[in-house]
This record gives sequence, C-alpha cells and structure tokens, in this order.
Amino acid sequence: MKRPRLGILISGRGSNMLAFIDACARGELDADIAVVLSNKPGAGGLEKAAAAGIPTACIDHRDYASREAFDAALVGELERHDIDAVVLAGFMRILTPVFIEPFYGRLFNIHPSLLPKYPGLNTHQRALDAGDAEAGVTVHFVTPELDGGPPVLQARVPVLAGDSAETLAARVLEQEHLIYPLAIRWFLEGRLQLRGDGACLDGEPLPPTGIDFCAQPR
Ligand code: GRF
Repeated sequence: MKRPRLGILISGRGSNMLAFIDACARGELDADIAVVLSNKPGAGGLEKAAAAGIPTACIDHRDYASREAFDAALVGELERHDIDAVVLAGFMRILTPVFIEPFYGRLFNIHPSLLPKYPGLNTHQRALDAGDAEAGVTVHFVTPELDGGPPVLQARVPVLAGDSAETLAARVLEQEHLIYPLAIRWFLEGRLQLRGDGACLDGEPLPPTGIDFCAQPR
C-alpha cells in the first residue's frame, strides 16, 4: 500500500514540523512528509526541512492579488505532491473555501489555547490576563470558521505564578509536539474522521473539546 503523504504548511520556525519529521524518523508516524510549504520566504522552518531532505516550496502571499488566488496556488502545489493530509503548523494566513474545500476532512490545525477559548492571536497573554489556572493547546479539523473546526485532541498545562506569555508558550509547545503527530497518526490509521459537523474516533463522536490528552493511557 502507498505510504500516506503529508503536506505541512508553516510560516515560522517550524518546531511542530520538526516534531513530525522526528515522529516519521522514529517510525511513530507511518507517513512521508512530501512537501513543506511556507508563505514566508524567510521562514526558519524551510531550512530545517531542507536539511532533513524534505522538498520545500515558498508561495509568497504578497505575489497574489487575492486570498483566493493565493489559496489556489497552495492547492495546486499540494496536489502536485499528491497529498493525503494537510497539516497547518504555525501557518499564519487565513484560508478561504478555495483551499479548505479540496482538503475538507483531511485538513488539520494546531491552536495554542483550550478551544473554544481564545481563537485568534495572543492566546497565552489572554489566558494570563484572564487569570486562568490552566492553558493548553488544541488540534482540530479545519472548517471555514477560524479556529472553529471540531477539536480532536487537547493538552492542558498549569499556569504557574510568575508566568509570562513566553514561559507559558514554552510549556504549551512541549505538549504541541506530542499531541499533533498523535492526532495525525489516528487519522492516517483510519480511526479519526470528520463526520457532519463533528469529529469521530473509532466511530464514536468526540466531546466538543476533543480528547483530553492528559487522561490518555501512555
Ligand atoms: C505554535 O504555537 C502553534 O500552536 C501555533 O503557531 C506556533 C507555531 O510554532 N499555531 P512552530 O512554528 O511550529 O514552532
């Protein structure tokens, strides 16, 4: 059987992308990373992917007259690489239905908050400002609603006295690197699906906030 092919979209340093590269190298994820795409020419993750021998491409959104034209170029590049699932990993562009529809049900994002709390930007500072006792991260299916697609997996971390947005982000990021490859593994194993408006694992609808990673048997 053909090995599943992942396309990873980044805009920055690409630490989640590296977690996928490592998971594939360790055999925890039975997939090939077929291409890493960035909308930013200087994204640090591009060099890291190339160093790992993974094909990269940059499609600069500033070269396109509209979001839809940019999205169509992304779709074309991913289709050229015969992608089975798309992993948004710190990809900082809002996507239109031109992109979302062709990959609907096999398109994932990771968002650094306990969705539905804090969609959008500055999630860690917002959690601190609200005095939250815990923060976290969510892997979710992507739908046209920004950060609003059905959650698959969440990991929680404590907010500690003296935390800054940076220290909290670092604690959350460690969890990101664990839960994102795991969620994609479930998908590639055929266990995880987007059905109607909800996510299902092993045929069972998931709770509205997804599976609690911290409660998972290790
Ligand atoms: C992560 O915090 C992710 O949750 C958010 O953007 C950041 C990307 O970091 N969507 P990296 O580029 O994967 O290191």
